[in-house]
Amino acid sequence: MSAFELNKWIGAFLGTFLLVMVLNLLSDALFSDHHDHNGPAFLVEVTDLVSHAGSEQTGTMESLSSLLLTADPNAARKTAKICGICHTFKLGGANKIGPNLWDVVGRAKATREDFSYSSTLANLGGMWDYEALDAFLTSPKTFAPGTKMVFPGIKKPEVRANMIAYLRTFSDNPIALPTK
Ligand code: HEC
Repeated sequence: MSAFELNKWIGAFLGTFLLVMVLNLLSDALFSDHHDHNGPAFLVEVTDLVSHAGSEQTGTMESLSSLLLTADPNAARKTAKICGICHTFKLGGANKIGPNLWDVVGRAKATREDFSYSSTLANLGGMWDYEALDAFLTSPKTFAPGTKMVFPGIKKPEVRANMIAYLRTFSDNPIALPTK
């Protein structure tokens, strides 16, 4: 092997090695649980969210109220990272691609003054009560055709209920959970 070829070989080897390192770091950032707040740990969850079409709204589905009563807000942290690409949750958080979601549960729809909503969302009227949030998060574009929220929806009712229960915690006075 000539020195030139050897150099090429070493170069390729180092290149691969570096690539593997970078991929490792990336997958740490994407899939680990340590960076609960801002990390885009969404790849796994995206497949999880969109690949359960079969369990969608069957006749035997538990009611939204009972799902909410047993929902686990903490279980939604991973899902929330997907939302976190476009939304902040905390009081005073910035609007990103989507509006800040502090205190959104029970609030009138599309009423943050510092965010420019689509006319579809602005014209919906009414409150983000549990049913409306559940319908919106099932399929934003079905619930609000023309919405600017480009998100396929959360197909599993339990995952949606956990997400809504998590959203509800971002308030100084969370609205009551539904009573059955
Ligand atoms: C790709 C960006 C994006 C993602 C991901 C996303 N949203 Fe949104 N969201 C938006 C945008 C943009 C709007 C405003 C929609 C409009 O004006 O039509 C919005 C609006 C909303 C609203 C209505 C807010 C209001 O003030 O009326 C809620 C609630 C909401 N999103 C919840 C969520 C949740 C929960 C998730 C995660 C499961 C999520 N969004 C994921 C972009 C996103």
